[in-house]
Amino acid sequence: MSSKIEIKNLRKNFSEKEVLSSVNLGVDKSSSLVILGGSGSGKSVLIKIIAGLIEPSSGSINIDGQNILSFNSKQKSELMQKIGFLFQGGALFDSLSVWENVAFRLIHHQKITKFDAKKIAISKLNSVGLSQKTADLLPSELSGGMQKRVSLARAIASNPEIIFFDEPTTGLDPIMADVINDLIIANSKELGATTITITHDMHSARKISDKIAMLYEGKIIWCGDIKNLDDSGNPFVDQFINGRAKGPINFLNK
Ligand SMILES: Nc1ncnc2c1ncn2[C@@H]1O[C@H](COP(=O)(O)OP(=O)(O)OP(=O)(O)O)[C@@H](O)[C@H]1O
Ligand SMILES: [Mg+2]
Repeated sequence: MSSKIEIKNLRKNFSEKEVLSSVNLGVDKSSSLVILGGSGSGKSVLIKIIAGLIEPSSGSINIDGQNILSFNSKQKSELMQKIGFLFQGGALFDSLSVWENVAFRLIHHQKITKFDAKKIAISKLNSVGLSQKTADLLPSELSGGMQKRVSLARAIASNPEIIFFDEPTTGLDPIMADVINDLIIANSKELGATTITITHDMHSARKISDKIAMLYEGKIIWCGDIKNLDDSGNPFVDQFINGRAKGPINFLNK
């Protein structure tokens, strides 16, 4: 299988604070990678760097064999059109209706007519379990879980080649969480997207991932097939996936 994303020696610090010390990671085309790691370990920062939203301090990121850190602004904006992003906090535009949020890129970048864009938006809303009735509401009129699902619909609306999901099932009921799991799988397995998902939901992680990577102290300390997760032989991974307070991970450090 060919590599869609290849990250080498990625480092990021915010002034003197080092968040990522040396991240090495490869993601196969049309595969689903899940990133695990404690709160504050740098998961969101890592995917924002891969998506071109934050500059790394050093290291390289290749997408389709091209070093994206050397891209000029035109190449960067072309790359952005291929990327979908579900932000951890949703980040909807609060003055736009639900459907306008979902259709934003379709209308403003892909120049699809409002009429057609609304139809696509409604079908994406349906795929996250929201009916047509929600389309004309404002985000503030929705529950937290519904807003999350609108953000998901927006992330997948343009059938992007690469999709980042930052905690897609957090705050959703168990049935809706599973609808979202299936949606993430469909995006990689049916539509061919390469997906990177951050989650603390181990049921979801096991269901959606081809590979799992764990971030700890600025590095990927384990990356492997989901079938090897329970026999990783890594005490940090064991403690994390079993949710044990006692073990090598010192949560007071952070
Ligand atoms: N723009 C920023 N400026 C300074 N520090 C930042 C910035 N963004 C993130 N950080 C710091 O980087 C560290 C990692 O943050 P990040 O949001 O990636 O954590 P996370 O692993 O996603 O955690 P969680 O599971 O709680 O979402 C934190 O210590 C955070 O304070
Ligand atoms: Mg985060």
